[in-house]
Amino acid sequence: MPAIHYILKDGAVRTVDVRDGLSVMEAAVHANVRGIDAECGGSCACATCHVYVAEADLDRLPPPDELEAEMLDAVAAERRPTSRLSCQIIIGPALDGLTVEVPATQS
Ligand code: FES
Repeated sequence: MPAIHYILKDGAVRTVDVRDGLSVMEAAVHANVRGIDAECGGSCACATCHVYVAEADLDRLPPPDELEAEMLDAVAAERRPTSRLSCQIIIGPALDGLTVEVPATQS
């Protein structure tokens, strides 16, 4: 199973082994990773699943689609070039070892 590394607000790292097909947000919620609120449940409508993808991993992801890019304008924390909505990142073998940072605020 692919492993996803979550850097928490306090700098601690949680590593979660995730079944293919789940999103980075779903994996976080199932594993009780703190700081990913996901108020809309993954329908790309709340922006409370915002994460910063590690720069070294950005090329492993397809770019955000139009709706995700629009929702990224509504994130509570600073938007950065590495900002993504974790509900829109679907995990598969190619993402093994992906590292994402949880922002200090989500809502
Ligand atoms: S969970 Fe709401 S936008 Fe991702």
